Amino acid sequence: MSPDEPSALWERLAQAQRVAVLTGAGVSAESGVPTFRGTDGLWHQYRAEDLATPEAFRRDSRLVWEWYDWRRQLIAKCRPNPAHIAIAFLERRSAEFLLITQNVDGLHRLAGSTRMVELHGNIWRVRCLEDGKTTENFDVPLPAIPPRCDCGGLLRPDVIWFGEALPPEALQEAFDFAESCEVFLVVGTSAVVQPAASLPSIARRRGAYLVEVNLEPTPITPLAHESHHGKAGDILPRLVGSDNFEFRTSDFEMFPATPSGDSCSP
Ligand code: APR
Repeated sequence: MSPDEPSALWERLAQAQRVAVLTGAGVSAESGVPTFRGTDGLWHQYRAEDLATPEAFRRDSRLVWEWYDWRRQLIAKCRPNPAHIAIAFLERRSAEFLLITQNVDGLHRLAGSTRMVELHGNIWRVRCLEDGKTTENFDVPLPAIPPRCDCGGLLRPDVIWFGEALPPEALQEAFDFAESCEVFLVVGTSAVVQPAASLPSIARRRGAYLVEVNLEPTPITPLAHESHHGKAGDILPRLVGSDNFEFRTSDFEMFPATPSGDSCSP
């Protein structure tokens, strides 16, 4: 769909009671967080089976934690971009709303999103393999690798690894909402990882108006009523009307000032 072609989304949003948004790594790309399958994507540089499976963690928890510590240090310098802000803005203007994210970076929450489910967990939470306790942890860098729980148990990142089941409540909430929403936006996902990748077609089948925003075509493109190809940070504010919404990145402090004070360049 060309940028100057009028979008019917505006009208649909004005009528809609229930609005859902599904996001992937592409929504954080302009904040400097690497995607997984893009040109410099993580899975081009690293083998997922060495770093993002329960077997890899059993084999070498130090290696896995070194990688997650590196990702946390990188993400800690990143701030929400206009696409995150547009989604938080859309939440506030929707009667019923659900953000379904595959991202573990925490940038949506930082941008002000509240009605959301994190299908793949969160990189700022850890879980003890001994007592099962889940806690927030913002240590950057981690003082000890692998980190340990107060009980002495080994901690793991509270993210979903390949081959692991998604959190059942979050998944059920996502499917229920996809089946009953009137507008479903898909932003910055390659839509190849299940079960998240099935949500857009379920919503479409149930009559939702399906809109995709992505740099390039994906398996969702043929299903979508509108496909906008380009950067989410440019397109989404215009689509949902948050382009006049002023914000300063300094508004968003994930936690106390970044030690190095470096700015994050995508
Ligand atoms: N604006 C819009 N779309 C973008 C942008 C951008 N600035 N930059 C990249 N994209 C698009 C890419 O074209 C690609 O389709 O975002 C998508 C990112 O796809 P992936 O890297 O595959 O990430 P994602 O879809 O989130 O992966 C799903 O796979 O590795 C697992 O658990 C991990 O949650 C992740 C899941």
